[in-house]
Amino acid sequence: MNVRSIFITRKISPKAIDKLAGLQIRIWPGDDPPKKENLIHEAARSDGLLCLLTDPIDEEIINAGKGRLKVISQMAVGYDNVDINAATKAGIPVGHTPGVLTETCADFTFGLILAISRRIVESDHQVRKNIWEPWGPDVLIGQEVNGSTLGLVGFGRIGQAVAKRASGFDMKILFYDPTPDENKAAELDAEYTELDDLLKRSDFVSLHTALNAETFHLMDTTRIGVMKKSAYLINTSRGGVVDPEALLWALENKVIRGAAIDVFEPEPIPEDHPLLKLDNIVITPHIASASNTTREKMALMAVENLIAGLENRKMPYCANPQVYADTQQ
Ligand code: GLV
Repeated sequence: MNVRSIFITRKISPKAIDKLAGLQIRIWPGDDPPKKENLIHEAARSDGLLCLLTDPIDEEIINAGKGRLKVISQMAVGYDNVDINAATKAGIPVGHTPGVLTETCADFTFGLILAISRRIVESDHQVRKNIWEPWGPDVLIGQEVNGSTLGLVGFGRIGQAVAKRASGFDMKILFYDPTPDENKAAELDAEYTELDDLLKRSDFVSLHTALNAETFHLMDTTRIGVMKKSAYLINTSRGGVVDPEALLWALENKVIRGAAIDVFEPEPIPEDHPLLKLDNIVITPHIASASNTTREKMALMAVENLIAGLENRKMPYCANPQVYADTQQ
């Protein structure tokens, strides 16, 4: 039998690579993502593709792999960069990595909540510019986090893990989700509200939803305009959930007090983007899951999915399980 050939779009944990012994592995050498033409070329000569959220795997790339490509394994929980319909149509299962990054992303979300409301990044910048005002009653006053109201838009794994942390801060927890998990809500003492109600009542609105046709630009000028003037918008989900123009408008005009975002549309944010000049925003470069242990777990999980796909087994974490109904098993 021919040795199976796989393409990995970036260097990943060596522990995960070790699991691929016996396969012919090609790893994209750059730190920047491969270009579309590279992906087309590799898809056509690979049995498996291990990709990241920065690789737009569209219909053209999937079709280039038709006939040979058996599996696409994404090293991320979100998979909005992969054309799932095209993959399903081609009979290709798509793997992803849910669960292993939940706690890490929830930690990071809380970091952003504290960073923006307690002005941690802004203070750090001042100190580095040799501005250390003597302790004073009005110096770098922020907003209280403990005892405030947190509104979670999306109450899946990560939203719930953020709620768990919020209860340690004695926060009132509201959530909106199209399919609310009532048991979890009761367990975490979280109150279900309609989206508009949540936006009106929350001191922090934190987004934990996948990006899809329903959530694209969910936070537009109308919805941000409903938030309290004193509130903060936190986004660790996907950039496309927030309309960037609406965010700029809201922060420039003090429609809300601030924002902390780990994701943006587009990524990377253009270097001359006016948001970068504002003090009332904290921006990080899509690193919510970036802890050493989590990234290793994600790589191992992605490899587990990849191997299952290569061996025609049902992959453990599949984004398009409907593929199995039409094709295998
Ligand atoms: C990160 O954003 C992920 O989807 O894993």
